[in-house]
Amino acid sequence: MLAFTASSDCFSPRAYRPLSLTVVANRVPIRQTDDGWETSVGGLTTALLPVLEAQGGTWVGMGEEPDLPERQEFPADDPDFLVRRVPLSTEELDGYYYGMANQILWPLSHYLIQHLELKDEFIETYRHVNERFADAVLEETEGGEDEVIWIQDYHQMLSPGHIREERPDATIGHFWHIPWPAMEVFRILPWARELLRGMLGCDLIGFHVEEYVDNFIESAEVLLGAEIDGNVIRYEGHETRVEAHPIGIEVGRFKEMAHDPSVEQEAKKFRERLGTDHVVIGIDRLDYTKGIRSRMLAFEEFLEENPEYHGNVSFFQIATPSRTELESYQQIRREVDEVVGRINGRFARESWVPVNYRYRTYTQYELCTFYRAADAALITPLRDGMNVVTQEFVTATQDGVLILSELTGAAYLLPEALQVNPYDQGGLANAIKVALEMPTDEKKERLKGLKQTVETLDVHNWADKFLSALAK
Ligand code: G6P
Repeated sequence: MLAFTASSDCFSPRAYRPLSLTVVANRVPIRQTDDGWETSVGGLTTALLPVLEAQGGTWVGMGEEPDLPERQEFPADDPDFLVRRVPLSTEELDGYYYGMANQILWPLSHYLIQHLELKDEFIETYRHVNERFADAVLEETEGGEDEVIWIQDYHQMLSPGHIREERPDATIGHFWHIPWPAMEVFRILPWARELLRGMLGCDLIGFHVEEYVDNFIESAEVLLGAEIDGNVIRYEGHETRVEAHPIGIEVGRFKEMAHDPSVEQEAKKFRERLGTDHVVIGIDRLDYTKGIRSRMLAFEEFLEENPEYHGNVSFFQIATPSRTELESYQQIRREVDEVVGRINGRFARESWVPVNYRYRTYTQYELCTFYRAADAALITPLRDGMNVVTQEFVTATQDGVLILSELTGAAYLLPEALQVNPYDQGGLANAIKVALEMPTDEKKERLKGLKQTVETLDVHNWADKFLSALAK
């Protein structure tokens, strides 16, 4: 049994935390700016840094640039935690990150197998890099009873197995942030069994929703012949629990930002600039899983069928640049450019541009103004593990309608959203009309339920609950 301390930090007084935490993730949580080093923005960093800051600990991640130190205490003047980098050569980055993680595990887990590049060199490099991550963890930890190792995401499926071999008594958790596909899809991978064995080095594996939990358990049962007892998997003398732990956002901070009077003013100005009665938004990384192109086609169909909305509705779509080195991401960029150009060419008039498309990154404050300004948000990925933009929109909006893909983790948790099949263009076009014409009472009623759920999903609760479950 591990020793746990009741945390006294201001972020989450209910938390029970390990005395020593080592987080393992693909990316480190700090970045260099013109003004020096700062922590990066993002759900994971937000959730885990308070834990590390409160009690110290280590974050292991890749070193993408050769000049960065392997060990860096942060902040330099009064360190809270240690950043341990695993420096990667260009070839290692290509095979492990761009190859295995982004061209195999990413498309497979999102059921988009047409993007799969099953190359041996990718798994070979991935094996090697996972071993190097595991070695870094072993170097930075001592093997004490009170130590917890928490691994994040699909970049590290094999490192739990390596760590377990060297440290049979270690406490190892893993959180998988994307969908775990159906067993019949996962087994397409020629290395499916090896990857599962690696994961089963963990004591606890977390997913966002029960569907992914069930898929994982079925994969272990069918592909490895593991013994299943409820949510416990027994394999080669070791037990792994598999549980659903849906992630949330930093609700408090988002709420505060959204209710800042300056956000309201900016939202008003933004609507005036667009100049239409109705505003619909979409906010995504530019990724082929996000369904941006299908959404645009649905908007085009909506405009075809509803001429009364011409000149009267604006679609504001943000696509944040992502994984730009990969051909599949360059291709989706070209496709979205093309469809946006076509819609605007077809429908625009003197003072009306139907689709306002931005290929760039915005600050969270700016995003908040867009959430506040929108009558409806279309969040319609072809697949998504959770989708936290959904939760940001629900937190920030006062009277907006959420149109949500039923193929997201969020859909299981948010039944009050207007749910659509993202592959059903007609259904999506119709949902836009339903959203824009929804009676105020219905909007309020739906939002009430959505907001209540999002409050309970707070990201600090997520980290606390996972760590407490790992301690059991
Ligand atoms: C998803 C993954 C994360 C990843 C993020 C951005 O949300 O679950 O692990 O960090 O995408 O992708 P990138 O490849 O730029 O880290």
